[in-house]
Amino acid sequence: MRGQNRLCRMMRSPRSLLGSLLAVLLVATGAIAQMASERVPELSGPPTEMGEVVVEPMPKWVVDDARKERAYPDQPPVIPHSIEGYQLSVNTNRCLSCHKRELTQESGAPMISVTHYMTREGQMLADVSPRRYFCTACHVPQADVRPLVGNTFRDMSEMGVGHAGSE
Ligand code: HEC
Ligand code: HEC
Repeated sequence: MRGQNRLCRMMRSPRSLLGSLLAVLLVATGAIAQMASERVPELSGPPTEMGEVVVEPMPKWVVDDARKERAYPDQPPVIPHSIEGYQLSVNTNRCLSCHKRELTQESGAPMISVTHYMTREGQMLADVSPRRYFCTACHVPQADVRPLVGNTFRDMSEMGVGHAGSE
């Protein structure tokens, strides 16, 4: 067939095959780079290689111990206390030393929620599920700083939702 013949010819001349592969690679990387620059906002400004970078002072964390309202029911609540120096590694989880069920009476901390004992398949475990072990993947402290990107989020109760028990 014609297509096959062309492929055979290309295989016979490895230089032209290499040339076309390189061309495809070049176009593909160019396209990916363009897509990435379109989708990812530059958080730190344009890069300045080898130049001096102004370092902003570390933000002051909100540590008022007041539990914050959640923006929607299954939002991971933000951390209202300091986590400075709390070790969170494979062998030690400082967060669980207050937040695990067995220690909450002593610590006064809210227990990790029931979903944190569930595996991906919905199986309940006796201890925190491995997928909920690294708390700071979802729970983060807050600082009063300028937002890095714009946000047009609106609470769903501002969008005409009737609330049960409010009449
Ligand atoms: C010394 C005990 C202690 C440790 C350690 C601790 N917490 Fe807490 N945490 C509390 C207490 C008590 C509260 C209740 C609010 C308050 O008093 O700050 C709380 C509140 C929270 C809340 C808010 C819950 C809600 O419903 O609003 C989150 C989230 C949280 N902690 C996550 C963490 C994470 C993540 C770590 C580890 C990096 C951690 N905590 C370590 C005691 C602790
Ligand atoms: C994969 C994301 C994720 C990880 C990891 C995770 N959480 Fe959560 N957490 C959530 C979400 C989402 C909620 C709110 C919905 C729910 O209860 O599941 C929540 C709720 C909580 C609450 C509030 C419980 C309540 O009843 O008010 C506490 C406290 C908490 N998490 C602590 C922790 C601690 C401590 C760890 C680490 C051992 C941890 N979480 C790991 C996502 C996560």
